[in-house]
Amino acid sequence: MPGMKTNHASRDSSNNAGDCCASGVVSAQNENKIKEICREFGNDRSRLMDMVRAIQSAIGYVPPEYYDLIAREAQTHRVEVQSVVSFYAFLSDRKKGTVIIRLCNDIIDRFKGADAVAAAFERELGISFGQTTDDGHFTLEWTACIGMSDQAPAALANDTVLTNLTPEKVPDIIRALRENPDPQSLVTECGDGNNAHELIRAMVNNNICKRDEVLLGEYNPGAGLKNALSKTPEEVIDEMKRSGLRGRGGAGFLAGLKWEFTRNAPGENKFVLCNADEGEPGTFKDRVLLTERADMMFEGMKIAAYAIGAETGIVYLRAEYAYLRPFLEDTLKKRRDAGLMGISVAGKEGFDFDIRIQMGAGAYVCGEESSLISSCEGTRGDPADRPPFPAIAGYKVSPTAVNNVETYCCAARIMDKGPEWFAAIGTEKSAGTKLLSISGDCERPGIYELPFGVKVSELLEMVGAPDAMAVQIGGPSGQMIDCSRFGRAISFEDLPTGGSIIIFGQDRDLLEVVDAFMEFFVDESCGYCVPCRVGNVLLRTRLQQIRDGKGVIEDLEYLTKLGKCTKRMSRCGLGQTSPNPILSTIENFRPVYNALLRRDQTGFQKSFNILHAIEDASELTGRRSVIFHA
Ligand SMILES: Cc1cc2nc3c(=O)[nH]c(=O)nc-3n(C[C@H](O)[C@H](O)[C@H](O)COP(=O)(O)O)c2cc1C
Ligand code: SF4
Ligand code: FES
Repeated sequence: MPGMKTNHASRDSSNNAGDCCASGVVSAQNENKIKEICREFGNDRSRLMDMVRAIQSAIGYVPPEYYDLIAREAQTHRVEVQSVVSFYAFLSDRKKGTVIIRLCNDIIDRFKGADAVAAAFERELGISFGQTTDDGHFTLEWTACIGMSDQAPAALANDTVLTNLTPEKVPDIIRALRENPDPQSLVTECGDGNNAHELIRAMVNNNICKRDEVLLGEYNPGAGLKNALSKTPEEVIDEMKRSGLRGRGGAGFLAGLKWEFTRNAPGENKFVLCNADEGEPGTFKDRVLLTERADMMFEGMKIAAYAIGAETGIVYLRAEYAYLRPFLEDTLKKRRDAGLMGISVAGKEGFDFDIRIQMGAGAYVCGEESSLISSCEGTRGDPADRPPFPAIAGYKVSPTAVNNVETYCCAARIMDKGPEWFAAIGTEKSAGTKLLSISGDCERPGIYELPFGVKVSELLEMVGAPDAMAVQIGGPSGQMIDCSRFGRAISFEDLPTGGSIIIFGQDRDLLEVVDAFMEFFVDESCGYCVPCRVGNVLLRTRLQQIRDGKGVIEDLEYLTKLGKCTKRMSRCGLGQTSPNPILSTIENFRPVYNALLRRDQTGFQKSFNILHAIEDASELTGRRSVIFHA
């Protein structure tokens, strides 16, 4: 892989390292700009994320020389400003190029040729990844999955998405950007559906390959909300519970039950948060819902707000999907104008509710609900200890329902078509359909809406992957299964997934895949707890040893023990699942490891410890070896 590689681009080296603002001194013009931006956000410390994002847009980065000023204006401390800027990959305290090209470094993209694309960018610009050109026009960076795995290799040029890249396209891209530094000028042909909407205009394709009746079939906008508002909040919660809807973001908690907890929790202000962070590599189904079903999602959020008694909703939108923001803001505005948001929603006296969009800034861990809440409050996305759960003490320590985009969409449909209709789809414990994002080695990658219970083998046939060697279910934090398990079903009770399904063909190096996934977790760990911060690095190092042909049988035991320990001792879901790529492949692909393990020429294993081996016998017989215990 050419150049330097890390997802935390803001910590990368840069030709401009050490620069402050353009003149090298604090300028009055910048000071005024910063004050104005902070005022725009009400000088409210909980909007610090928005402030530093806006400052970065205006100045090009967030110069440390202004941290004190920002802190004063935001009524917070300098250290808060510094910790926010240093935490998020898309924020920077150094000047970068006018155009930042962030190429996805996920294994899916690499298998589709990202390395050759990277080399072409380096050649064309004369810099390595992590660097900025001397003229200050371009910066090259690696980034984690940007939600375009079905059209890889993919990259972001500032907020503009570039898909299906090839080395041949790179010279034209750079030439065009030299002529016109606005990356949007690269979009000469838009993708399908709303990707061609004037407020999106993206080359992204929805690639919807299979529609079913819940999410991507016919939809009667507003019918769910109307029906909900004709009932009491308790009745709405009861219907949600009866529908059996479980959260679509991964954990599968019953949505109705979460809403009930939030409704019953003491607190004057309650909040509805929508998790549109979608950072699990290989997941892009929320991207398609945000593009094609934004109204359905907002409708679901409103139903949740009515049920729990909330006046404020927040959609946490990942920075990689910033290109969708104008469209989503416009959709919200239209709803406000139509009386579907604001005071007395849809004419319902006493039901006031509005939604704002909170942009993320490039941190996978912010998809974890307590990190997401921290980020919405304007701080680093640090996960919090639980309990208390967000339903009791979430956003601004108030009862908060956090749900996934797809969960809210399902809620809108349930209130329209009824809980029994929904419960009749899928399996007993996994009601409804699931939106799957299919990528990797198959003929038809894209979005598939299928009833829960579909078998992996059926899925593989549908997507055109009859010869798959392995399937990664649920992204890197899920599990890798081999062909003997393709008869298993996608469902909470068998193979759960938030939506990511990655297929690997017969000729793929599975341990390269495992290494890439571990690299992702090492990069994305927030670093708070030792098992996750250190454990993942140690796991990756030992895996590398095996890949280098220097591993012995005991290394597998070491990996298993350390992996389990990391899972058990980590504070949040990231560390609790990060060893899964290693653990699930040791379990399901043991021969791949065995083939690489070494026995030296003498036949002895290097790590064999004779004292350890005779410990039991020594204790049993009550005697010590005159040779080895001497
Ligand atoms: C590291 C990590 C990343 C996560 N990323 C997401 C995400 O991108 N989207 C999401 O909905 N849930 C994500 N989750 C799960 C959330 O914490 C939470 O369970 C979910 O948003 C609840 O919504 P649901 O019940 O509708 O699924 C993530 C969890 C962890 C531990
Ligand atoms: S498990 Fe990892 S990501 Fe989660 S709090 Fe600990 S260090 Fe941070
Ligand atoms: S965009 Fe590269 S893996 Fe998702």
